[in-house]
Amino acid sequence: MSSQDLDSLKKAAALKAVEFVRDGMVVGLGTGSTAKHMVLALGEKVRAGMRLRGVPTSNETAALARQQGIALIDTDHTWVIDVAIDGADQVDPHFNLIKGGGGALLKEKIVAASAKQFIVVVDHAKRVPVLGGSFPLPIEVIPFGWGSTAREIHSLTKSSVVLRERNGVPFTTEAGHVILDVHLPRIDHPRELEIALNRIPGVVETGLFVGRTDLLLVGTENGVESYPATRT
Ligand code: A5P
Repeated sequence: MSSQDLDSLKKAAALKAVEFVRDGMVVGLGTGSTAKHMVLALGEKVRAGMRLRGVPTSNETAALARQQGIALIDTDHTWVIDVAIDGADQVDPHFNLIKGGGGALLKEKIVAASAKQFIVVVDHAKRVPVLGGSFPLPIEVIPFGWGSTAREIHSLTKSSVVLRERNGVPFTTEAGHVILDVHLPRIDHPRELEIALNRIPGVVETGLFVGRTDLLLVGTENGVESYPATRT
C-alpha cells in the first residue's frame, strides 16, 4: 500500500475521532501526521462555530492549531482535558503503544495521562502482534551523562541503544532532553519494562504507553474499525 493510501486511512481514523469532540470541550492535541488530520478537522469545526480549547503536545501542533483558529490553553495552568486524540507508532493487541517517533513522547504522555478519554488513531499498518521489532523504543533522557544512562539501558534490555540524531547532531526535545532509540526485537512485558526503565537515573520518560488507551480507531481499506479499551 502506498504512503498516500495509508495517509487516507490515517485521515479517516482521525475524522472518526473528531466525532467524539463536543462543544465546550478541552482537547488534547497529539503530534504527527495522523494527529495533523485531526487538528485540521477541529479547525473546520471551530470555524463552523464550535467552542473548543486545545492543549498541544508539541510546538508544531501548537502552530498548526493557532493557524486553524483553535484557542490554546496556557500550559502553565492546571487543565482538565476532556479528550486527547493522538497517533501511535505501534499498537499491540492489548492496546499498548509505542510512541515518540516524532520526539514528542513526553508531552504526549502527560496529556494522555491527564485526559478523561484517550483516543488513539492509526492506520492498520501500525498494528503488531507484539511491540518492538521493526520500530525502536524511544526513551527521553537528560543530556547529562547520557552515555552512562545508555549503558544502563543496554544492560537492562541487552539491546542496541542509539542516540537519536538529526542533521548530524543530537536531536533535542522541546524539554531540552535527548532521545535514545532502543532496538528491542520484541517487548513481551511492556508494563514491567516501562517500570524498570523509569527507575534508571537520567531517564525522563519512555515511549511505552501501557494501559492508557480508552478507544482505538484503526483506518482500514474496509472503513474505520473501533475498539473500546479499558485502562489498566
Ligand atoms: C510523536 O512523537 C509520535 O508519538 C507520533 O504520535 C507517532 O509517531 C505517530 O506519528 P504518525 O501519525 O506521523 O505516524
